[in-house]
Amino acid sequence: MGHHSLISLLYQYGVDGSLENGKGYTAAELGTDKSKAQILALEAERKKKRNSEVFRNVNLKEVLTTELVGQRLAIEQVSSVVNRLEMGWTNCKHPMVLLFVGATGLGKTEMAKRLAQYLRGNSKTSFVHVNLSEYQTEHEAAKFIGSPPGYVGYSESGDGQLISLLAKNPKAVVLFDEADKAHPNVLTTLLQLFDEGRLTSGSGKSIDCPEAVFVLTANLAIDQIKDFGDGLRKFFSPQSIESGNNNRMQDYVHYFKSRLLHGPLKKAFKRDELLGRINELAIFLPFSKAEQRKLIETQLCQVRSLAAKNHGITLTWDSSLYDFLLKTFNQSYGARHMRHEIDRKVVNRLSTAFDEGLCRPGEFLHLELHPDLGDDSIKHMKDQRIRLCRISPLNTKEYLDIRFADFEELFRLEAS
Ligand SMILES: Nc1ncnc2c1ncn2[C@@H]1O[C@H](COP(=O)(O)OP(=O)(O)OP(=O)(O)O)[C@@H](O)[C@H]1O
Ligand SMILES: [Mg+2]
Repeated sequence: MGHHSLISLLYQYGVDGSLENGKGYTAAELGTDKSKAQILALEAERKKKRNSEVFRNVNLKEVLTTELVGQRLAIEQVSSVVNRLEMGWTNCKHPMVLLFVGATGLGKTEMAKRLAQYLRGNSKTSFVHVNLSEYQTEHEAAKFIGSPPGYVGYSESGDGQLISLLAKNPKAVVLFDEADKAHPNVLTTLLQLFDEGRLTSGSGKSIDCPEAVFVLTANLAIDQIKDFGDGLRKFFSPQSIESGNNNRMQDYVHYFKSRLLHGPLKKAFKRDELLGRINELAIFLPFSKAEQRKLIETQLCQVRSLAAKNHGITLTWDSSLYDFLLKTFNQSYGARHMRHEIDRKVVNRLSTAFDEGLCRPGEFLHLELHPDLGDDSIKHMKDQRIRLCRISPLNTKEYLDIRFADFEELFRLEAS
């Protein structure tokens, strides 16, 4: 048996060519030019295969449930359609197309990113984000598609932005945000892309991408989705929403999609063909009270990790903080708004304490509520209700006197 057949055989039996011998050399470094090239190619293939096996060991539904608060229905819908694709129950000639509908800040972008990581790994090209609200006019639409020379929006390359992004990775997960705001010409291009898995630019260049995954988002039918979510939570247990097995629940979801959601979707996208190409319409529900609480907890835990990692601080808090922060939760802005509130009320407090030299790495800090004395001076300064204290080694509390910028003074200076 020659060298090359022997190397192939070793790889067939799972040899790891990246291991070093006693002198610190890998097999490729010891080989002749020809066998070196063969080993490097087989090694690259082995790594690729191993990485994809690592991905497959985790289940998408588990990943999404761990990373996102709530959204059990959307998680169920997306993981089932991906599961069908992976198990070979979907026509592979067309790319997979998902539509995420729901209000702002409920996790649509976050889910698309997690899906990209799960399906295509962590590389920079695995996820492409295109905001279609930037392509509302004919001129902008031409930039998206790329138009022939002499036409409106013709650019030097003539290829349009999407084609160059897809050329880097034709299997990418592409998020088309605010798809309902795109110009009709953009939607026509998308229809061809979803149908044929091929994108052709104005200059005639084309790219095949039948394995790409497209996710459209739309912030529409917000009130209808809210009412639907209330009904879903009232009539069905969290388990039936999660498992998606309950036939009555599926009928309810189907009824909602076909009778109540189809109208606003058709109005926004104008054409049934486009809606017909969508493999799954995932519905993002507003957060329930319990989910809002969980979101606050998750975000406070993220602050705690940053405090520990970047400042060596151990951070704890009273559970009374949850109810206080819950009152500030604004459903209309979703999780994004809660993050801003926590930045303003908690992170700001911590960073100011550090800037003023009131605390140091290695210390234990605790957040709690200032007692509500009904005192007007505190009532109108809602942000000051949270106070920060240092816990000494003897477990005593020392309240930190944080001096925030005197905004009244600043405004006076601005006005003068
Ligand atoms: N369900 C959720 N669980 C945990 N974090 C969330 C959730 N939804 C949103 N977030 C957090 O809130 C921020 C905004 O979320 P995201 O961008 O996914 O919202 P969106 O639904 O895409 O909103 P928009 O419609 O405005 O684009 C992100 O930092 C995200 O991590
Ligand atoms: Mg988004």
